[in-house]
Amino acid sequence: MTEKKRILTGDRPTGLLHLGHYVGSLKNRIALQDTYECYIIIADLHTLTTKPSKEEILLLRENVRLMVLDYLACGLDPKKVTIYLQSATPAVYEMNLIFEMLISLNRLTGLPSLKEMARNAHLDNDSIPFGLIGYPVLQTADILMPKAHLVPVGKDNEAHIELARDIARRFNQYYGEIFPMPEVLLSETPTLIGTDGKGKMSKSANNTILLSDDAKAVEKKVKGMYTDPNRLRADTPGTVEGNPVFIYHDLFNTRKDEVEDLKSRYREGRVGDVEVKAKLTTAINEFLEPIRERRKLYECEKGLIEEIIYDGTEKMNEVSQATLKEMRNAMGMGGAWNKISRVARDRKKQMTGS
Ligand code: TRP
Repeated sequence: MTEKKRILTGDRPTGLLHLGHYVGSLKNRIALQDTYECYIIIADLHTLTTKPSKEEILLLRENVRLMVLDYLACGLDPKKVTIYLQSATPAVYEMNLIFEMLISLNRLTGLPSLKEMARNAHLDNDSIPFGLIGYPVLQTADILMPKAHLVPVGKDNEAHIELARDIARRFNQYYGEIFPMPEVLLSETPTLIGTDGKGKMSKSANNTILLSDDAKAVEKKVKGMYTDPNRLRADTPGTVEGNPVFIYHDLFNTRKDEVEDLKSRYREGRVGDVEVKAKLTTAINEFLEPIRERRKLYECEKGLIEEIIYDGTEKMNEVSQATLKEMRNAMGMGGAWNKISRVARDRKKQMTGS
């Protein structure tokens, strides 16, 4: 039997996950968990790049739990995937430092994602931390730790995987072939528009439908959704393309003929928003129902989430220590210290022996 290829991906534990996370990457991970050896990172160190305050750090405890519960509820199977806590894997700190030497500052500061993250965190040029510039280098350490072949992420992370390839290539050139080139895997729906129709679904924009929303919350959010603003009455012909309500119908309504029927009536001005939205509410709730059921199973077992993260982190520590050792050997790192300790120990032995 040939060895399975490896996946590494994950998220910052910023809180509850939403439909955007699902279509953007969770769906892919769930689909691939059988064919790949999967590592899922809870990237708590990455949250420090924009939120280093103690209050924010204390929030992580609960956020980590909530996020992993979302993962499991969606169908990631802890028997198949390794879910681990980044800050509890010492190798990542060391690899991060080594990889920092293999990429130029210009390459990092030129990434559009840096500007976007800085903007979202309300940081101007004078207050961008060094660590935020290094965000993709730390991400590279995550990816290369298990020597991942494939990284399923959202579009906003695509350039980071490209950078991880650059660093891996440079490492291999300098010290020997250790790392496979990690490939990015984008989902068919790399970004999902928010319920407000303005930008992508995100917690900060307050335009989300959460994977943990109950049926009532879904109904309320869908009722408030942005649709075609030029359509003043049910008998005005409307635009389907780019209309968030229909984007969601396409993604979550399994009754394709119902969707086609709604679309054509919408275009002709023969259906009201109320009906379109009611059917969307039903579809989203049907999609979320099995997720709600699985969530209940995991929630009622006290300590289970913690155990899953604990076991995953132990596993990742074994894997990552092995990679780190291989890296250090390839680099000839530790050679100086090894020699110093050997000579020093010999001398101590001699002095006490004589
Ligand atoms: N950058 C990812 C995000 O946007 C989180 C992350 C950290 C990650 N390390 C990773 C994703 C490694 C994929 C692989 O939240």
